[in-house]
Amino acid sequence: QRDRVGSDFDALLAADQRIEPRDAMPEKYRETLIRQIAQHAHSEIIGMQPEGNWITRAPSLRRKAILIAKVQDEAGHGLYLYSAAETLGIDRQELLERLHDGKQKYSSIFNYPTLTWADCGAIGWLVDGAAIMNQVPLCRCSYGPYARAMIRVCKEESFHQRQGFEILWNLMRGTEAQQAMAQDAADRWWWPALMMFGPPDTGEAAKGGHTEQSMAWGIKRFSNDDLRQKFVDMMVPQAEKLGIVLPDPDLRWNEERGHYDFGPIDWDEFWRVLRGDGACNAERISHRRRAHDEGAWVREAANAYAGKHAARSAE
Ligand code: 3HC
Repeated sequence: QRDRVGSDFDALLAADQRIEPRDAMPEKYRETLIRQIAQHAHSEIIGMQPEGNWITRAPSLRRKAILIAKVQDEAGHGLYLYSAAETLGIDRQELLERLHDGKQKYSSIFNYPTLTWADCGAIGWLVDGAAIMNQVPLCRCSYGPYARAMIRVCKEESFHQRQGFEILWNLMRGTEAQQAMAQDAADRWWWPALMMFGPPDTGEAAKGGHTEQSMAWGIKRFSNDDLRQKFVDMMVPQAEKLGIVLPDPDLRWNEERGHYDFGPIDWDEFWRVLRGDGACNAERISHRRRAHDEGAWVREAANAYAGKHAARSAE
């Protein structure tokens, strides 16, 4: 990185350089990053549940091994991100309590159920595909620890998306029942995947959004709608390759715009699921709380070991 222009926040932003934990930063910048990084971490951890539901029922040992690796990766992504959030002076215990108490969010996509094996394909292909689209620009986020966490996350996400695409590729070349299962999964996951990019940049649903300020601070490099459009443009040719028909009758190439036009998104559904009225909201949080409680002994053991280790080093 070029010589840093000192540690003045505005000068670093103007020079498109990284803000590091020890730099002075506006309190609102710090709060925005804690909010976004924490909710990103919560999404990774909660996101382990939908696919975790299929590890014991994967159709082959190979598929089981791949799925275990993917779900473990998501846990690792959560840990990187909680660590990045902690550089802003907040404790992960506090962040987890905000998740458990509904004071912080996780991505609404994970409130949808995984009804068949094909859902693991649709999640890898669509959800991780959307995550990549959203996370690659975050590698250039103005906050150093977040940007650096994203570089490794994005490398692992591309494996996640490829394995999802391959699951659907195999199903679409299987029996009619397997093709129908893949098509049904795409039908159920397509629109919620578009919602992952956040509310629209304009109109009623955009009210109270953070995009403008986050773009001014170099946290967001593209608006929600711009990334959503890039995602649609990327996925339509892939769906054609798979032989999957995306569930949007308005989807068509617009030569003039150089993009695909697509139909209206049901933002009422988006806000309903955010308010807690999705199919799996209650299950996801109760499972998370149970896992946290059952994992208390691991935290206690790690703290006891760290305490003994520190006492030995102090002798
Ligand atoms: N699910 C839940 N809440 C959402 C959401 C979604 N899909 N999209 C937006 N929201 C919330 C925002 O958090 C905000 O609420 P808040 O003020 O209580 O935090 C409100 O809706 C307004 O949205 P904005 O777009 O104005 O908010 P942001 O500027 O924070 O942008 C975002 C939303 C694009 C998701 C941004 O926070 C972001 O890029 N986050 C990092 C990426 C991330 O969190 N991805 C989640 C999926 S992780 C994943 O898929 C892992 C993969 O491995 C499976």
